[in-house]
Amino acid sequence: MIKFIVAKNYDELSKKAAGIIKSVVVLNNDAVLGLATGSSPIGTYKELINAYKNNEVSFKNCISVNLDEYKGLDGENDQSYRYFMNDNLFNHIDIDKNNTFVPNGLNDATEECKAYDNLIDSFGGVDLQLLGLGLNGHIGFNEPADSFSMGTQEVALTESTIEANKRFFEKVEDVPKFAYTMGIGTIMTAKKVVLIASGAAKSSIVKQAFFGAVTPNVPASILQMHPDTTVILDEESATEILELI
Ligand code: F6R
Repeated sequence: MIKFIVAKNYDELSKKAAGIIKSVVVLNNDAVLGLATGSSPIGTYKELINAYKNNEVSFKNCISVNLDEYKGLDGENDQSYRYFMNDNLFNHIDIDKNNTFVPNGLNDATEECKAYDNLIDSFGGVDLQLLGLGLNGHIGFNEPADSFSMGTQEVALTESTIEANKRFFEKVEDVPKFAYTMGIGTIMTAKKVVLIASGAAKSSIVKQAFFGAVTPNVPASILQMHPDTTVILDEESATEILELI
């Protein structure tokens, strides 16, 4: 069963998401945090940085595993997800960088994906997975498909995702066409999932994903089967489901 929280705006959404992450880390100092990139979690990460600076929480013993990385970009590239995580979170909190993991976009796909799954297994899985929601319902870079993916794999990004992500690049041609992503199977084994989505553009996919059929055509719909998922929306992304919750 999915729990829904409708926040007034992006700031409040970010505070709520950070509050859940903080409480997990306070209760379990060495929590394994599954993290996301993109626009949605930036506010949440700011809140976590503030909480750390105010001595409300320490990430010293935490481990983090990110959802995905563009194929072919190295961690020094300012468009890579490793760079994003360092810049938006890791450089500003006390997590040990050696305990932060993002798939390595330069490594061979088969080897990297297998190694990433083994790594997550060796930690006993993810305690809390933070997710954004793609306009086509993707989570991680698990794009609409005929079946749900299991483990980490190389994926071809869809036109819609490339289009949505071009805002971060100088030219659309610069957006990588492939990525490595944690699989849906792994996401589903996370003990707790927190998905955040804001803005009117997401309102239709929010309804499809959480009130439509569970189908690999809308990858996030599988979360309807997850035992502990909280979806945090703002008023704009929640417009189409307000009467349903
Ligand atoms: C990012 C990721 C993606 C994004 C999604 C939403 O690591 O895995 O699934 O969460 O594309 O992106 P934003 O938040 O930019 O709308």
